[in-house]
Amino acid sequence: MSTNSWTHRHILSLTEFTPKEYNIILQTAASFQEVLGRRMKKVPALQGQVVANLFFEPSTRTRNSFELAAKRLSADTLNFAPGTSSLSKGETILDTAMTYLAMGTDMMVIRHRDAGVPTAIASAMDRNGYQVRILNAGDGQHEHPSQALLDLFTICKLLNSTEPRIELLEGKKIAIVGDILHSRVARSNIWSLTASGAEVHLAGTPTLLPKYFAEFGKNRPSKLFVHWNIEPALEKADFVMTLRLQKERMSQHLLPSLREYHQLFGITRDRLKLCQPGVKILHPGPVNRGVEISSDLMDDSQLSLISQQVTSGIAVRMALLYLLGGGKTDNG
Ligand code: CP
Repeated sequence: MSTNSWTHRHILSLTEFTPKEYNIILQTAASFQEVLGRRMKKVPALQGQVVANLFFEPSTRTRNSFELAAKRLSADTLNFAPGTSSLSKGETILDTAMTYLAMGTDMMVIRHRDAGVPTAIASAMDRNGYQVRILNAGDGQHEHPSQALLDLFTICKLLNSTEPRIELLEGKKIAIVGDILHSRVARSNIWSLTASGAEVHLAGTPTLLPKYFAEFGKNRPSKLFVHWNIEPALEKADFVMTLRLQKERMSQHLLPSLREYHQLFGITRDRLKLCQPGVKILHPGPVNRGVEISSDLMDDSQLSLISQQVTSGIAVRMALLYLLGGGKTDNG
């Protein structure tokens, strides 16, 4: 496993990632997924390194899978929970990060409800010459790079289980449906999928899918389409990504009711008849059952990749920590 072509110091956004870099992540993750299938699921790649999970906003999947990924790589882990931290005594976020740095942290995995916090911390660390690496674990409505990368890995593994690579998506149609306005997952997925050669179709109500999203497709290898009704997005789609309706981020009343939203944009068995036979559904979780997706579809393992996405998250996050940590192992 070679890290020679890896140049990113931090992972804050996918805007600048190239197909070659996506393939490094996919191949590294595939190699770690093989490790995770063994009886001994640990490698010594990051032995002696410290990974701090600084989650200023709640998380189940991302926080736990980064923690497990770090442990599988033999790193030491520190977990921060805002409710029991000195934030409540007025400590700033940057001083919190500096405190973890002073304890010898090598990599910080940061989630915050405001866009830009991981980038601001990375800039402050770089300015002061600190070697710490920063991973954005989801910041406001900006980006969620590791989620988009695990989505990409899940899809590419399905298309070729032994050699997942981004070129497998060429000519595929992928629909991203729902609350795109508030979704950092959608933004990161738009960057990765429009680098792939897939056709990307966004669908949502005009209040949840502003017209300016069409600009995201400019000068990208893939075509990007914006739809304010669901049918053209689903028609002959190979993959459908549905997104959580982010009730907590809706400051204005952008929807008449959840029931009407489900009627207009909910993913149901009936609607999936428009898609390619063999269509697969993805959702980053957590799910509002019966709102963005019907409850029975979520549990249908023939159609839903939701559990595989969570499982993929561990191998993908191992790959990201490994690449940023400059770890060397033959996985043997
Ligand atoms: N998909 C995702 O980010 O889930 P969590 O909020 O549980 O981490």
